[in-house]
Amino acid sequence: MSDPTLSPAWQALKAQRKALAKTAMRDLFAEDKKRFERFSMSAAGILLDYSKNRITPDTMKSLVKLARTSQLQTAIEAMFSGVAINLTEHRAVLHTALRNRSEQPVFVEGKDVMPDVRQVLARMKRFTQAVRSGKWRGHTGKRITDIVNIGIGGSDLGPVMVTQALTPYWQKGLTPHFVSNVDPTHISETLRRLDPETTLFIVVSKSFGTPETLLNAQLARRWLVTALKDEAAVARHFVAVSTHTEKVRAFGIDTTHMFAFWDWVGGRYSVWSAVGLSVALMVGMDNFAALLDGAFAMDQHFRTAPLAQNMPVIMALLGIWYNNFWDAQSQVVLPYDQYLARFPAYLQQLDMESNGKSVTRTGKPVHYATGAIIWGEPGTNGQHAFYQLIHQGTRLIPADFLAAAESHNPINQQHQVLLSNCFAQSKALMLGKTRAEVRAELTAANLGSAEIRMLLPHKVFPGNRPSNTLLYRKLDPHTLGALIALYEHKVFVQGMIWDVNSFDQWGVELGKQLAGAIEQGLVNPGKASGHDSSTNGLINTCKALRAD
Ligand code: F6P
Repeated sequence: MSDPTLSPAWQALKAQRKALAKTAMRDLFAEDKKRFERFSMSAAGILLDYSKNRITPDTMKSLVKLARTSQLQTAIEAMFSGVAINLTEHRAVLHTALRNRSEQPVFVEGKDVMPDVRQVLARMKRFTQAVRSGKWRGHTGKRITDIVNIGIGGSDLGPVMVTQALTPYWQKGLTPHFVSNVDPTHISETLRRLDPETTLFIVVSKSFGTPETLLNAQLARRWLVTALKDEAAVARHFVAVSTHTEKVRAFGIDTTHMFAFWDWVGGRYSVWSAVGLSVALMVGMDNFAALLDGAFAMDQHFRTAPLAQNMPVIMALLGIWYNNFWDAQSQVVLPYDQYLARFPAYLQQLDMESNGKSVTRTGKPVHYATGAIIWGEPGTNGQHAFYQLIHQGTRLIPADFLAAAESHNPINQQHQVLLSNCFAQSKALMLGKTRAEVRAELTAANLGSAEIRMLLPHKVFPGNRPSNTLLYRKLDPHTLGALIALYEHKVFVQGMIWDVNSFDQWGVELGKQLAGAIEQGLVNPGKASGHDSSTNGLINTCKALRAD
């Protein structure tokens, strides 16, 4: 892969950025009455309106050329067909096989993985039906009422986000809980509310070696065995999801109650596998299948649509446009859909763990910006918190707005209030408010000229702030599946263009390594002295505070 900045498309984009620097989007809208039609598209039940961006048809042409320069189409095909594109871990990247709803085989090193995928889905179906129907009971014969997913990172964020997003589809009488943090408060506060006789734990860990997960699972196990006074109770109250049978067995979970997945599924891309068992238990396997169907529909679109009409590609290119040509450092995600409250947190891992890299796939330092900082909160909460900075601050922050046309809770006109706020915000960001407009407003309000002079600069909105809007009918499992797959592919495309490996995560390792030695320092008696002065100081102050 060659340096993307050397391509003619990159150079053309640099020139276009200069030319567009003084162009206001409000003028582009005024000049082109068809701007919405020109810069919007639909796929898998989702409309993307990207007309409120600092783009012209020429910008889009150059961006698509940039994608072509990166051999994107070849890369897409390589991913879908099981080539080991995760070079540093020598692995294929096949979350798309987990939701391959066609009859087509998918080969990894010559073996079709689809029979295994279908077999695990069938086991999930049997198990979820047994728990939901009350056939599977706890050790003392009581029905399961509470599901606790113990996992972290991809073994938590996907399950928790999807479960929450699909709340309207939950089975009555079942309550989900998610424990991730190694802070003992997390598991303690969760267990405090639970009855061991009716609680089912799902220990989810791809590696089955993540300390947070194992420590929390051990605590849960002890809590259960102590309460039910029988080791044998574990068999009815613990199941595991992992790629490591031996480690699951060593932990003491019967491997007949283990759901497998595979090395070619990245943690942050794993909710489509048995990692989504908590989702399937809460919403049922038909809804889980609809989630897979939605993702598959987006996969088909991504694999077959020409680059210029390809939704994940367009979103990825717009991200690159702001990141690399307008120096935007972050990307805000604003779901005007309370069910998507955890979507920004989910995207943080998906995007930042994938593309937060500073060397190319062959290990050379990059000299351009890569992954953006992802953040966000559901609307309208954000409006009363951080939108001030997006509207009038000094930074350029591209925004993704997400909204459903229809609410699961249609009460009075309240959903229309929500939507009007969503559309008003993207309009305000695009339009802004000029000095002349502010002056006219203040004059009409009969303010004196001194007051107008004082207030005027504070009330001006620069506008020209970019956003995308993703609009769908209703947040059902199919739409959610498509939405997640859209962002997964967006991240992949950006990684390809930046020439980084979006599928490893070595950056999480150093802290893990150092934590071991620091833990010793905290536990062992005496003063710590083997670290830098700050770390020693923190350890020793902590010990002194505890001794007080
Ligand atoms: O934080 C690093 C990470 O490896 C993530 O990529 C992963 O999702 C998470 O830890 C949990 O890993 P596991 O599923 O193996 O417990």
